[in-house]
Amino acid sequence: FFAAAENKPLSGTKIIVTAGPTREKVDPVRFLTNHSSGKMGYAIAGEAAKLGADVTLVSGPVSLCPPEGLETVLVESAEDMFQAVSGLFEEADVVIKTAAVADYRPKHVFDHKIKKQEGGQVLELERTKDILLELGKRKTHQLLIGFAAETDNVEKYARKKLDKKNADMIVANDVKQEGAGFGTETNIVTIFKRNGDMLSLPLMSKQEVARHLLSEIISELKKDDG
Ligand code: CTP
Ligand code: CA
Repeated sequence: FFAAAENKPLSGTKIIVTAGPTREKVDPVRFLTNHSSGKMGYAIAGEAAKLGADVTLVSGPVSLCPPEGLETVLVESAEDMFQAVSGLFEEADVVIKTAAVADYRPKHVFDHKIKKQEGGQVLELERTKDILLELGKRKTHQLLIGFAAETDNVEKYARKKLDKKNADMIVANDVKQEGAGFGTETNIVTIFKRNGDMLSLPLMSKQEVARHLLSEIISELKKDDG
């Protein structure tokens, strides 16, 4: 029994992981998106499942196979992701928002293909819901983990997000660093915590980053228990 608890420290823990980009429709043939590959989120979901967690992976469109031993919900837009995560939130113990959610979407979605014309074209955008911010307002007992991809002032912006979104941890990376960020197999992250602590990890595989993050989460969950 004790051996099982050692190997599966997350058994009985419900974890939602969001991953990948979102797609915001412009017209029937076009959309706005970003460079997120989904690799970081898929690595976290896979490792969490190996540690015994009951994982639901809410994923935007990526070209990865879902890891084994977990449930995957496929979504497209920020609004879809918000709806999927909202429905699962109350029951969850931990939410890890790795997804690169679009901040804006086209204000009008054309029901026909936009035809080219002489001159330029203006696309009016409106804000999407900030899912993490909404969850931060609703949270009762859940541990909320956000990600932040920055190109400058990493610590300042990460701490701001931690505070504003009522998150428990923000995992920040400087996407300008070689070996960090979009599409790579590796990452260089710093984990900022609510109590002011920070943990800077050196360059490592996304799978190793996932393991480090999950071990931080396991210690936080233990604190809450007793
Ligand atoms: N996030 C979200 N919903 C959004 C935008 C972001 O849930 N509409 C989440 C991301 O999944 C991530 C965290 O918020 O966990 C930080 O995302 P990021 O894009 O770095 O921050 P923003 O608050 O969107 O600010 P900005 O893009 O201006 O830096
Ligand atoms: Ca953003």
